Amino acid sequence: MYLLISLILLSFLNVSFSQKVGKFSPEVHPPITWQECADDGSCKTMNGEIVIDANWRWVHSEQGTNCYTGNTWNPTLCPDDKTCAENCYLDGANYESVYGITTEDDSVRLNFITQSQGKNIGSRTFLMANSTNYQMFYVLGQEFSFDVDVSNLDCGLNGALYLVSMDSDGGIARFPSNEAGAQYGTGYCDAQCPRDLKFISGSANVEGWIPSSNNPNTGYGNHGSCCAEMDLWEANNMATALTPHPCDTSSQTVCESDSCGGATSSNRYGGLCDPDGCDYNPYRMGNTTFFGPGQTVDTKSVMTVVTQFITNDGTTTGTLKSIKRLYVQNGQVISQSESTVPGVAGNEITEDFCHNQKQVFGDKDSFTKHGGLAAMGDALKNGMVLVLSLWDDYLADMLWLDSNYPTTSPVTEPGVARGPCSTSSGTPTDVESKYPNAYVVYSNIKVGPINSTFKNN
Ligand SMILES: *[C@@H]1O[C@H](CO)[C@@H](O)[C@H](O)[C@H]1NC(C)=O
Ligand SMILES: *[C@@H]1O[C@H](CO)[C@@H](O)[C@H](O)[C@H]1NC(C)=O
Ligand SMILES: *[C@@H]1O[C@H](CO)[C@@H](O)[C@H](O)[C@H]1NC(C)=O
Repeated sequence: MYLLISLILLSFLNVSFSQKVGKFSPEVHPPITWQECADDGSCKTMNGEIVIDANWRWVHSEQGTNCYTGNTWNPTLCPDDKTCAENCYLDGANYESVYGITTEDDSVRLNFITQSQGKNIGSRTFLMANSTNYQMFYVLGQEFSFDVDVSNLDCGLNGALYLVSMDSDGGIARFPSNEAGAQYGTGYCDAQCPRDLKFISGSANVEGWIPSSNNPNTGYGNHGSCCAEMDLWEANNMATALTPHPCDTSSQTVCESDSCGGATSSNRYGGLCDPDGCDYNPYRMGNTTFFGPGQTVDTKSVMTVVTQFITNDGTTTGTLKSIKRLYVQNGQVISQSESTVPGVAGNEITEDFCHNQKQVFGDKDSFTKHGGLAAMGDALKNGMVLVLSLWDDYLADMLWLDSNYPTTSPVTEPGVARGPCSTSSGTPTDVESKYPNAYVVYSNIKVGPINSTFKNN
């Protein structure tokens, strides 16, 4: 009997729990509504919640000792990935006072800098269906629209709203050592296969961790977290881009060191995903007066942004053949500007557009290598999680979005000019000191059949 009890106890002790839930602060998700629309233009209100990504949270021992401080791990609590995950707890978030995140009815506001005990810089949040599961969006053959106020986002900032193929439960079912799940914002992945995540697939990412040379809060571990990414919106008040990034596999997949590819690996193109994507940035496609303060789409005021995912047969199960963009501002429907770049025609993202653009700009075509629009369509069909974020760029000063990039290429070379910001703008030091009060507001999120979400505005 005694032996049996010891064996049972031992077997329990051998179970590896990790990413446990801390009890210092309750986790209360700010509520937000959004709408699901039908063919006739009628829309049904859905009740959702906003959750902040686990990477922004306090991780600590059961007693409250930091597992991670600044950009380094506590070597006692975190000697390796497995032990660290067993020792460390994710805690609840004070959304408004620590992270500058507030919601009201159908809108969410993300502040850039929030000073409390520490200084918080930007945030990454997800839309949830309820307190334990992310909302899955199925937008193949459908359209997605939202309103955005970018008027307070200057050069170097990026208010991004996008879809990624995360697990709806944050990975709890696939990785039982993750106890926190979507409720605590776990399971992030994107097409850069980011290696700055502290926990991936139920393990910590401490092994091989190198603190960032210029970011006091981040570093890079041996593992990355890959999945398909559909950037509906990356923008500030000077430039904007719409960019599909397919991957060989659409669901969240862990990767190893340099084989992750992406921005933080020695071989950018060595991974499962397309880190570049096939972007439509009106400025880069030759129209420098389409988007900006006082331009055709005026970034001084709120705009509705509509993205349509058109399939070959018009169904929600067909092959993705085109991604279209429309804007609505002051009651006017405004089509995406037409490309004026010789050799690249049109104002929508199609296989032809991507192929021609890569060729004319002399960019590597990793988009086609990872399956192109068809692979992006498969990811959309399987359901994706909505990310709402605000960030500044410690790797490339956001010049790839709003300035000339690469900075070493002549500005006259096709594809180099992407926005009117100076090549010396966008350094995080500058952006954080000049625009501490920057913020973005996303609101009025609607999903439905093509043309159903904006005609009745
Ligand atoms: C939360 O939402 C998910 C996905 O829609 C659903 O499967 C689950 O049953 C819901 N849980 C609760 C407690 O409502
Ligand atoms: C830019 O786009 C606007 C709106 O589509 C159009 O009126 C204008 O002629 C375009 N400019 C160029 C240079 O193509
Ligand atoms: C959506 O509206 C546009 C412009 O009015 C039209 O060209 C297109 O055929 C419509 N698409 C569908 C699927 O109704």
